[in-house]
Amino acid sequence: MTIDLAAPSPALADARAPSPTTGEARFGVYVHWPFCRAKCPYCDFNSHVRHGGIDEPRFLSAYLAELAYFASLAPARNVASVFFGGGTPSLMQAETVAAILEAIAKHWRLDSDAEITLEANPTSVEAERFAGYRAAGVNRLSLGVQALDDTSLKALGRQHTADEALSALDLAKRRFGRVSFDLIYAREGQTARGWRDELGLALSHAADHLSLYQLTIEPGTPFAARHDAGTLKPPNGAEARAQYLLTQELCEAAGLPAYEVSNHARPGSESRHNLLYWRGADYAGIGPGAHSRIGIDGVKRALATLKSPEDWRASVEARGHGLASDDALSADEAAEEYLLMGMRLSEGIDLARFAAIGGRPLDEARIASLAEDGLVRRDGRRLAATPKGRLVLDRLIVELAPG
Ligand SMILES: C[S@@+](CC[C@H](N)C(=O)[O-])C[C@H]1O[C@@H](n2cnc3c(N)ncnc32)[C@H](O)[C@@H]1O
Ligand code: SF4
Repeated sequence: MTIDLAAPSPALADARAPSPTTGEARFGVYVHWPFCRAKCPYCDFNSHVRHGGIDEPRFLSAYLAELAYFASLAPARNVASVFFGGGTPSLMQAETVAAILEAIAKHWRLDSDAEITLEANPTSVEAERFAGYRAAGVNRLSLGVQALDDTSLKALGRQHTADEALSALDLAKRRFGRVSFDLIYAREGQTARGWRDELGLALSHAADHLSLYQLTIEPGTPFAARHDAGTLKPPNGAEARAQYLLTQELCEAAGLPAYEVSNHARPGSESRHNLLYWRGADYAGIGPGAHSRIGIDGVKRALATLKSPEDWRASVEARGHGLASDDALSADEAAEEYLLMGMRLSEGIDLARFAAIGGRPLDEARIASLAEDGLVRRDGRRLAATPKGRLVLDRLIVELAPG
């Protein structure tokens, strides 16, 4: 099945109205596929292994029903981006992806140049599905490469080798207009010298976008248990910081500067979907454990669905949606969220928009003092963290946040 992304729906022709709470006209749809072939020991995403397989048509029906529910909550929006994330969306049948995209195009106005991303694991089995995803309408692939040597991949519990990942990347670059891949650095035993070589190799294979994450020891994961027991020793703070600084330097030199703390792109190739989140736009999150932010009647609502795939499906089958929570954010909460997300971006936040969302501006004296310390840069209406400020971003945001 394919969809005609260029065909506008005349009934929704006026859907470019800005969101009442953010002033941001674009709308995103996130689709969470919560299944993985195996659980990686560092990962705390909502991902589940079902050795007996899953009833994919039944899950698809639930996705379609929940999409219809969200379309009724946020009708007449202009979808600029769709993101299939996980879990491992490259375990989905291409027909499932196509059916979901068709439904999105039916419920909303899907921009003719909408960015449609799918996250894929770079095993050869999944690479065989790339052509099907492209035919379904996916135009951007994000590959979870994680490391470029087999010893590290094994330590990360990955199901693919470095060669397999590079072959999948090659194929992806031929099939899709836009391709990104993820690497994790500051891994156990990794040195700045080793990371320099690995990132150099990565940059030589990079298309237009890279996501480079510093390893986080997530509570409740096998890595956290080993870390607590002293059998997993990631690089210390100074070493991790050196690797972060090296990342900025090498990516910038290669023409892929950071546009967000962990995301690097050739100018113009930034992930539009992630920009929607960080710029405070509205988005609907479909599937188990997905989050949404939707402005309704001038109030930003934060919605989240049930995390267990089977509980979520049972809820959708009974009630038409799998919502576990639906909270109205206060003006202060919405503004704080905009600050928290926006300051991750190199472009920073729009101070006038912050004031419009929260009903009060940021404290000018605090901005001036942080600017004096070289931690923020003020440029007209915009406020951004400097490279020095980005190293202490959490503290910076706490100091800026009103109240
Ligand atoms: C939700 S995962 C999905 C991607 C896909 N399932 C995969 O593993 O290739 C998105 C990305 O988050 C990153 N990630 C997950 N857990 C992490 C952790 N504990 N520390 C750093 N990065 C992490 C990985 O780079 C991963 O590719
Ligand atoms: S890192 Fe990816 S493949 Fe591994 S468990 Fe998490 S979501 Fe699944």
